[in-house]
Amino acid sequence: MSSPTLTVEIRRSSGPVRYEIPARENQTVLDVVTEVQRRHAPDLAYRFACRVGVCGSCAMMVNGVPRWTCRTHVSKVAEGGGLTIEPLRNLPVIRDLVCDMTRFFEKWADRDAGAGAVFQGSATRDDPLPAIDPEDPARARANAGIECINCAVCYAACDVVAWDDGYLGPAALNRAWTLVNDVRAANSGAVKARAQAAGGCGSCHSHGACVEACPVGLNPTRSIAGLKRRSLAELFGLAG
Ligand code: FES
Repeated sequence: MSSPTLTVEIRRSSGPVRYEIPARENQTVLDVVTEVQRRHAPDLAYRFACRVGVCGSCAMMVNGVPRWTCRTHVSKVAEGGGLTIEPLRNLPVIRDLVCDMTRFFEKWADRDAGAGAVFQGSATRDDPLPAIDPEDPARARANAGIECINCAVCYAACDVVAWDDGYLGPAALNRAWTLVNDVRAANSGAVKARAQAAGGCGSCHSHGACVEACPVGLNPTRSIAGLKRRSLAELFGLAG
């Protein structure tokens, strides 16, 4: 009896290529790409590092949906026994399934071209460690968005990013909101100003595609709504 096979179409830089590989129990999409590379296409370019959902480097489009491939089981996403795997949307492709992440991280971290949402401490190593109350509402807001793994799945899911390259995107604005709420951050005011400027929170249409796609269950739309509410409160002189 022949073993079951899986048909995989990979959108390579040279064009779409179909591969047949054995269907296995508990196979992840990253397992599939690895098997294709090891047995059929040694020159196939793709990225991964941890294989356990921590590093955020393995994201790809799977049957049209951005996903972290090391934690996506084939059985949950295969349509008609097949998979179509493409590089992440909204990012330039370097080769095959590898995208250039420069613009994504620039929007996140760069102070001129992005939100500059990189933590800058307000204390020195000689200061006593400040006690942070985890129940404090601002800390709770920061904690709600802090576990981002930088996979760019939300960025690929976002239609506003697709039509407006100037939009900072869900990941950068989510990170900005965590810093705005972090009492230890010396740069929270500057980050907030950049997140509220052109291309910032005001450009979000609240479609929520980022929330649906986020593999670690974050809610960037809620973070962006927080930035919008803060902007309005400041406009009407109501910010505390
Ligand atoms: Fe690290 Fe998938 S390989 S998150």
